[in-house]
Order: sequence, then structure tokens, then C-alpha cells
Amino acid sequence: MNAETGHSALQEAAKRNLWLHFTRHSGFADADIPMIVRGEGQYVYDQHGKRYLDGLAGLFVSQIGHGRADVAEAGARQGAELAYFPLWSYAHPRAVELAERLAGYAPGDLNRVFFTTSGSEAVESAWKLAKQYFKLTGQPGKYKVLSRHIAYHGTSLGALAVTGLPAIKMPFEPLPPGGVRVPNTNFYRAPSFVAHDVTAFGAWAADEIEQAILREGPESVAAVYLEPVQNSGGCFPAPPGYFQRVREICDTYGVLMVSDEVICAFGRLGHIFGCDRYDYVPDIITFAKGITSGYSPMGGMMVSDRLMEPYQKDQHTFLHGITFAGHPVSCAVALANLDVFEKEALLDNVRSNEGAFRATLEKLYDLPIVGDVRGDGYFYGIELVKDKATRETFDDNESERLLRGYLSHALFDAGLICRADDRGDPVIQLSPPLTCTQEHFDEIEQILRDVLTQAWSHV
Ligand SMILES: Cc1ncc(COP(=O)(O)O)c(C=O)c1O
Repeated sequence: MNAETGHSALQEAAKRNLWLHFTRHSGFADADIPMIVRGEGQYVYDQHGKRYLDGLAGLFVSQIGHGRADVAEAGARQGAELAYFPLWSYAHPRAVELAERLAGYAPGDLNRVFFTTSGSEAVESAWKLAKQYFKLTGQPGKYKVLSRHIAYHGTSLGALAVTGLPAIKMPFEPLPPGGVRVPNTNFYRAPSFVAHDVTAFGAWAADEIEQAILREGPESVAAVYLEPVQNSGGCFPAPPGYFQRVREICDTYGVLMVSDEVICAFGRLGHIFGCDRYDYVPDIITFAKGITSGYSPMGGMMVSDRLMEPYQKDQHTFLHGITFAGHPVSCAVALANLDVFEKEALLDNVRSNEGAFRATLEKLYDLPIVGDVRGDGYFYGIELVKDKATRETFDDNESERLLRGYLSHALFDAGLICRADDRGDPVIQLSPPLTCTQEHFDEIEQILRDVLTQAWSHV
């Protein structure tokens, strides 16, 4: 079988047997499914040998970049030594070493690590931990969770109940009860009475959390979930003072603050944990993705000593577990990944280059379709607008033609992997490997400039 025959057999099998996630399969009736076959550094290659700059780090995952044999080999060595053993009543050395190392990085007294295999499981585990914690400590009515409009916190039913995107929830309702929405921190779309002042906007958005707690009844609210920078909607950093005010509110009403760092931990914002960048200490941090840079799957949560305390008394047990959580291979890979962070000073790389990344993307402001460039670290959203002066957005049909009819394919064809998304207003999202430097920023900007310049004719 020659190479081309092999490629088309793979295409046919993919169309016949593989179910892609969050993907409209009808879109591939007359088109090939993109087939990525290998990666090296900041780039991946398709089955025809074409190269793409991975401007999304896979899916906010590949922090150290692709093709690192040293990290892959750490997994292989662990597999040969001890491929699997559960964390149900047993420990194994790599899980212990990783937990100790993560506790060393985490702020405050977040010294306890509960591993999962994914971000959704981490989000859901935090909710279960909170519910049982309050039952153990004499507040059994506390079960509700607050989260922000348009925020994505995962797809399993519990995590979906925390998610703030009605369209991806509707088909699966009824969901577990208790999810309550509060405003997000999209300053570009701030209500007019606070649109002039970012700090006032942040104070209003935080105070809305207090209002929601009072409305629901503090005795019923267990936790509030916040990302350091909200991904869905297109990278909303929080205004100055926002997290500090939320911390105060949580302390006042005995509500747990969960920092969902499935994207924002492990260097995305120039720190191991995103909360450090904005100087707040949550009660729980949920993480996944970048902890292994994708060389093996893993998620988890960092938990404060205070929350662990009741679980250590009497006959109490956190009645929750996952077979593959804290998998030895994933732990070994995570340790090797964190070694790369240290040896190659990746946090420093992000901190010293993030200004250049922002400045390079901001050059795109000269295009009429670019309304807002926002984000922090190596994590940016570019909001596309119909009218820059009025900030008018595209209607559903226009957005459909623009994003799915044109941008997604055009950016990929031009050699850039990023995300054109309209779960909120239309945005392009960027989250490149943390090893990127100016040459990659320039390549991203150039491709975006070419493709966005053509975009008008496709609306
Ligand atoms: C903030 C946040 N939480 C949770 C999740 C769910 O993670 P996973 O896809 O690993 O289940 C994601 C995934 O992108 C996320 O961005």
C-alpha cells in the first residue's frame, strides 16, 4: 500500500468509525477530517507533511511543545516499573512525589492533592468534596454552586451543571440541581453604568456574587467557581480587586472559592497556579491539561488543609474515587514535564515575552473586524465585530458563515491552529506553547492578518 492509499484508508476509517468530540460530522461529508500525525516543538504536521503552528497548544494543553522524547521516555520507564496501581487505599511513589511537589507550588495551605483523569472530573470532584464537607460540618443544606455566564467548566453532568453555556446544556437537561449564574468579567461588553471604569465594573461583578448568595440563601450555597482568566467567551481577565472582593464575600458567607485552573495553571499565565498571578488564595484549585503537557492524561484538585480536616476524623471517608486517577505513568510524566518547566525557565519565558505577544496581536487593531484583543500571559482572545465604533456584533447567521463557513478552514489552511468560537460573541482564541517567542508571535499575526482581511467577503 503506498502512502496516498494509506492516507485515504485512514480517512475512510475515521469517517466510518471515529466519533469526534463537539464536531458537526456533516461538515466532513465532502471534506477530509484533518489528520495530525506528529508534532515537534511549536508545530504539528498533517498526513501530507504540511506544517501548522499550534497556536492553541492542542487544546490549551501542550505547554512544553510537541515531540519531547525525554518526557515520553519518563512515562515509558514508569510503565516498565509499575504501570498501574490504584490510589484506593494504596499509594505509589510517583503520586506521592508529585503531590508533594504540587503542594510546594500551591499558595496558602492548599497542601492536599486529589488526582483525577480530566478537568471535568476535577470540577465535579470539587463539588462533591464541598457537598460532603458541609454535611460533615453540620451545614447539610449547602449544595449550590455559582459560576459565571458563558463559562465552560466541563461536560460530565455535574461539571455541565456548573457550566454557564445554555446551548451545550439543553440536550442533557434535567441536570443536577444547584447551578446558579453570576456575571462574567467581559469589560468590553460591560453594562453602561460601569462601562467607563474597569475597577467599578469589577466591584459590581463581584458584588453580584454576593447578591446571588443572598438571593439563594447563604445556607444553601456551597461554592463559587471562577477561572483566573475565563476562557469561554474569549479570554476575560478579571478587573483589579475582583478576586479580593470575591474572597471577602466567600469568607463572609462560608462559601468555598474554587479556582478552576484547568487552563490557567502550569504556566499559561506565567505562574504554576493562575491564582498567584492575581494574588488570591482559593479553597480549591482544579487543574488538568498542562500538568502533563498532554504526554499522558491527568487532572486533579489542590485542597486546603481546612477542607481535609473533617475527612481525617472518626470513620469519615470522601466517598469518591476514579480507577485511573493518579495513574503512575501520568504522575511520572507530570514530574518530567515540571522538570522541563524548571530547566528551561518556561515561566520566565512567558513573563518576559507576554508583553511582546500582546503588542504583536494588538497590531491587528488596524483591521476593521478586530474589536477587542484581551487576555494575559500566553492566553488571548480576539473579538470580531461588525462595526468597531458601535461594537455591534454579528447575528447568528453571519457568525455561522464567518466562523464555520470561513475562518476555521481558512486559518487551518493557512497553517495556524487556533480556535474560532462563538459560544459567546465571535472570537479567535490563542494559547500557544509556552516555548513560543517573537518569531511565532509574528507568524500568528501574519496569518491572522491575511485571513481576517479576507473575512468581510465571507460574512
Ligand atoms: C476551565 C475548564 N474547566 C474544566 C474543563 C474540562 O476539562 P476536560 O475536558 O479535561 O474534562 C475545561 C476544558 O477545557 C476547562 O477549560
